[in-house]
This record gives sequence, structure tokens and C-alpha cells, in this order.
Amino acid sequence: MAENYVSLTEDDKEKASKLPIMDGTMGPSVVDIRSLYAQTGYFTYDPGFTSTASCSSKITYIDGDNGILLYRGYPIEQLAEKCDFLEVCYLLLNGELPNGAQMKEFVTIISQHVMVHEQLTKFYSGFRRDAHPMAVLVGVVGALSAFYHDVTDVTRPEDRYIAAIRLIAKMPNIVAMCHKYSTGMPFIYPKRKLGYAENFMRMMMGDPYDDYIANPVLIRALDRILILHADHEQNASTSTVRLAGSSGANPYACVAAGIACLWGAAHGGANEAVLNMLEEIGDVTKIPEYVAKAKDKSDPFRLMGFGHRVYKNYDPRAKLMRQTCHEVLDELNLNNDPMFKLAMELERIALEDEYFVERKLYPNVDFYSGIVLRALGIPTEMFTAIFALSRSVGWIAQWDEMISDPELKIGRPRQLYRGVAKRDVQPISSR
Ligand code: ACO
Repeated sequence: MAENYVSLTEDDKEKASKLPIMDGTMGPSVVDIRSLYAQTGYFTYDPGFTSTASCSSKITYIDGDNGILLYRGYPIEQLAEKCDFLEVCYLLLNGELPNGAQMKEFVTIISQHVMVHEQLTKFYSGFRRDAHPMAVLVGVVGALSAFYHDVTDVTRPEDRYIAAIRLIAKMPNIVAMCHKYSTGMPFIYPKRKLGYAENFMRMMMGDPYDDYIANPVLIRALDRILILHADHEQNASTSTVRLAGSSGANPYACVAAGIACLWGAAHGGANEAVLNMLEEIGDVTKIPEYVAKAKDKSDPFRLMGFGHRVYKNYDPRAKLMRQTCHEVLDELNLNNDPMFKLAMELERIALEDEYFVERKLYPNVDFYSGIVLRALGIPTEMFTAIFALSRSVGWIAQWDEMISDPELKIGRPRQLYRGVAKRDVQPISSR
């Protein structure tokens, strides 16, 4: 908190007013403060980066006030309608949507990398069976760096590309093994001929003694979850990956750092928190009590899955996920399931309640994705791991963009020191 306001001298103001303004393609322009300290002797103070662009990027654009999300310029609504997840991966990595031949080649190269080194499967047995899947995921994805370190020269674009392919291809297998290990079930090997989402569902939900029969509505729902979570510009976990990667570290180690960041309830943990909250509420008759708790300022309880830091009108991903949610509940005849009835009633009440309407607290993407994942039969504790699976492409695309940026510098924020001023060490007898 500012205790006083420093007035810049006329000379400082003159220098500060000469700081260049940089314009993006869309969105607010930025003041380039790189020379501020050299010119004026001041740093800026911006915990939480609420007014600071940490990089320039060509990947994802968000306009929170108008509910706009674009990947490489394409609206998320069109991508969710017209593309599948692997097309979106290609787009995020390469900057353009693939044509037929490019897509065929991309699918082939991904399918060539779906297996993990058999030695990697041994890592799981080092964990307790009841470990949280995100704890296991941080460890196993970090361990990939031990398998590919010597063949990854981050200065070579071809090496970075193959690192991205390996990550995207292996993540479904790695995430599914987290689940299988926790239940004591055997790991299921991927099948090259299956689509990305179907392969993942088979490895998660299938078993070695029966054929896995995929339901296209459910596979499409999962694919949509993957598309909607694939990137979200400089969010906390992506910034973590960039910061870790800015030193030239191994990409899998950087992604493991991103997974650690995503785990927090304020970030990727929200979809899990939604289901835990619904279980806590337990019954439709209890909703008014919990809505009152959410409005009570002396009570820390918040309705999980409502509100968003950036989207203040609506979250475009939530609109798409709501539609998918209803398709899945209809397909599975779950509209009368008590948990789903409870969720739908909570949504109805919150959308009408003055407190939520006034504050623009709409259901966010995680409210609906949590409900969909639950309907797909995925255990709650796996939700954030599935978020990590989708976000891996965003992390690695942003990492690649950063490494190839000629302006790359190691991420090294400054600080406002408020500790004790310089003093002398006294002999122990006189302290
Ligand atoms: N339930 C009840 N009240 C809420 C909620 C909520 N979920 N969210 C915000 N509010 C209230 C606040 O108490 C505050 O009220 P006031 O103005 O009377 O003081 C007002 O709405 C604004 O809240 P802020 O905390 O300033 O909003 P902020 O943008 O900082 O928070 C956040 C956004 C963290 C997402 C918040 O809405 C929240 O905690 N939601 C629940 C958790 C959640 O669903 N997170 C997932 C986000 S989506 C994603 O990560 C993919």
C-alpha cells in the first residue's frame, strides 16, 4: 500500500513522458518502461502483474469486457464448432490452421510419439496410490526431462518442435496412467488409429479384458473441453512456464513447473472445487442457505465456478461448455440425477439473484466442465490433471514463442525492499 506519493521532478517527468508507447494488433497499448530505471532511478511496483505486460505474444487474445477469446485470431466459438483438438494444437503451434495434407502429417507424427518410454511407467510405483494425481503429474512430466535432455537443444527450432510433439502426444497416456495407478488397474497402452480424445478416454476408462466402446457425444464433449482450455494467454501457469524457460531450462521441467502452478484452487483447481462444493451442498433444498453464505461478507465461502478475473460480462468458453453440458446430460439421461439437478438449480438461482447479477458473477467454464467431466465418469480428483492435459499445448507453444523471441531475457523481476537497513553483526555475547 502506498504511504505517500512521490512527485517526480520536472526533469523526471520530462524523461518519463518520453517513454515509448507500443501498440498491439488489438487491445490496450503499453508504455515501454524498460528504460525507466536508467532514466529516472525508479522501478515500477505491480504485484500480481495487474498492469504489466510481461511479454509480447501472437498466440492468444482475450477481451474480458466483451467476452472475446481468440486463438491466433480465430474466435473460440468457431474453433469449438468447426475444429478438433489436434487442429487447434496445430494452430497454436504453427500460427495457421492446417490444410488436409498438413493435418494428415501432424496426426501421423503425433501418433508416432504416443508411447512413453517403458522405464517412465516405473516412476508411478514410487508414489503412494492415494497421492493426488497432480502431485504424480508434476513428478512424471518433470521426469520426461531425464529421458529427452540430451536430445533437446532449445536453441534449435527442430528440437523445440519435437519437444512440443512429444509433450502433446504423451500427455493423454501420462494423465491416464495417473488415474489407473490410483485405482490399482493396469495401464492401458494407446492405440495409434484412435482420435486424440477417444484414445485418452479408452486409456482412462477402458480395461484390458473388454473392448472400449466410445460414445461419440461424450468424445466430442471431451474434445471440446480440451479445445476450450488449450490456451489463455499469460495466465499464472503459462507465465510460470515462461519464467522457468527463460533461463534455457529443459522444456519438460518448465511444463512441470506450470503443472505445479495450475494445481492451485485459484487457478486450475476450480473445476474440482465445483464438484466438492456441490457434494457439500448435497441437496436442492440447501441451495438458499449456501447462496446466503456466499453473499455474507463475514463468511469466506464463495460459490465455486462463478465469477472470473478477466471475463466480467460472460466467459465465452462457459457459453460453449453449457451447451455441451446439456448435450451430455441428455445423452446419458442424467437430467434427473440429484447432483446434476442441484447444479442446474444453483445456476438458475445465481443467474437471477440480484447479488450475482449486479456483480456480473456468471457461471464460468469450470462450473460446466466439472459437471461434464463428472457425467463422463471421471473422478473429481482427475479434473485438474485433464486441465493440464489440455493446457500443455498452450504452455509449449508459449515457451517456443518465448525462446524464439529476439528480445528474450531471463525473467528477473525487481523488488521493493522493506527489510532492515544495513547493520553490523554484534558478537553473540552482546546480542
Ligand atoms: N461467490 C460469491 N461472491 C463472489 C464470487 C463468488 N464466486 N466471486 C466474486 N464475488 C464477489 C466478491 O465478494 C466481491 O464482492 P464485493 O464487491 O461486494 O466486495 C465481488 O464479487 C468481486 O469479486 P473479486 O474477488 O474482486 O473478483 P475477482 O475478479 O478478484 O475474482 C474469482 C475472480 C477469483 C474467479 C472469483 O470470482 C472467485 O473466487 N470465484 C470462485 C472460484 C472460481 O470459480 N474460480 C475459477 C475461475 S475460472 C478459471 O480459472 C478457468
